[in-house]
Amino acid sequence: MMMTERTQHNLLTIDQLESGDALDLIHEAQAFKAGKQVQLLKPAYAINLFFEDSTRTKTSFQMAEKKLGMHVLDFNGATSSVSKGESLYDTVKTVDSIGANVAVIRHPRTEYYRQLVKHNLKIGLINAGDGAGQHPSQCLLDMMTILEQFQCFHDLKVLIIGDIVHSRVARSNAEMLWRLGAQVYFAGPKEWADPTLAKYGQFGDFDALLPQMDVINLLRVQHERITDLNNAKFDASTYHEQYGLTKQRAERMKARAIVLHPAPVNRGVEIDDELVESPHSRIFTQMQNGVFVRMAIISRLLRFQNLL
Ligand code: CP
Repeated sequence: MMMTERTQHNLLTIDQLESGDALDLIHEAQAFKAGKQVQLLKPAYAINLFFEDSTRTKTSFQMAEKKLGMHVLDFNGATSSVSKGESLYDTVKTVDSIGANVAVIRHPRTEYYRQLVKHNLKIGLINAGDGAGQHPSQCLLDMMTILEQFQCFHDLKVLIIGDIVHSRVARSNAEMLWRLGAQVYFAGPKEWADPTLAKYGQFGDFDALLPQMDVINLLRVQHERITDLNNAKFDASTYHEQYGLTKQRAERMKARAIVLHPAPVNRGVEIDDELVESPHSRIFTQMQNGVFVRMAIISRLLRFQNLL
């Protein structure tokens, strides 16, 4: 399946990608992981506009940009002219005018990109997370990590568990897993279920589903998107007991089953501290694969601009 021109210019939501497009990006990421090198045709410039905190996504994009030979411009949301009231569009238009080729944007506002794509920007845009909307690069690195273990998605049973309603990872992963042929299940506190995802899979009981699952995709409790009242009511040890991957639960997993978590991990809440680096866990492999997936995503945008 050929990617549309829009998809080659920007990557904003996972629904821009047909399953074939996603697999093409993963295959290119695998080639980068195996040592593929590329040579830019002209100097190319990236800027990472993060208006919400990040460790992994930001450093991973920076690493990907540098591995591709790009120049990476400095940007700090807190000291930028956004503090003087400059809009996101004017910020992006500015870096486009200055000559940046790719802007990677994380923003707390869900679908922030809708106001940007109305304009005729030359710069390629990559969504690094929009509120509780989408996280396409996390989704692709998760798919790459699953593919490395199982070689295909058909009939794989994947459980997405935890704070689903506030999670952009849950939204992107459920849609893509369903499209790739996996069987998606959800579990966690009922008040954090998301009925809009029911078309991708059924909601069930964690302990009943666990022994049948191939992939356990844990989600971080997104305290920053939960009301103060609900945060005050939240009890970490009760959550761990009811919905956390404990050592007792891990013993009931299939031998080849893997555990994903987008991180940052609340150790002792979503997962027992000792399981974070257990043989089932792929949490640090996800981070490693993230660099290669982001190299593949950026490469598509650079090819569209005849820079690669
Ligand atoms: N997984 C993820 O998006 O992590 P960061 O918030 O650290 O970027």
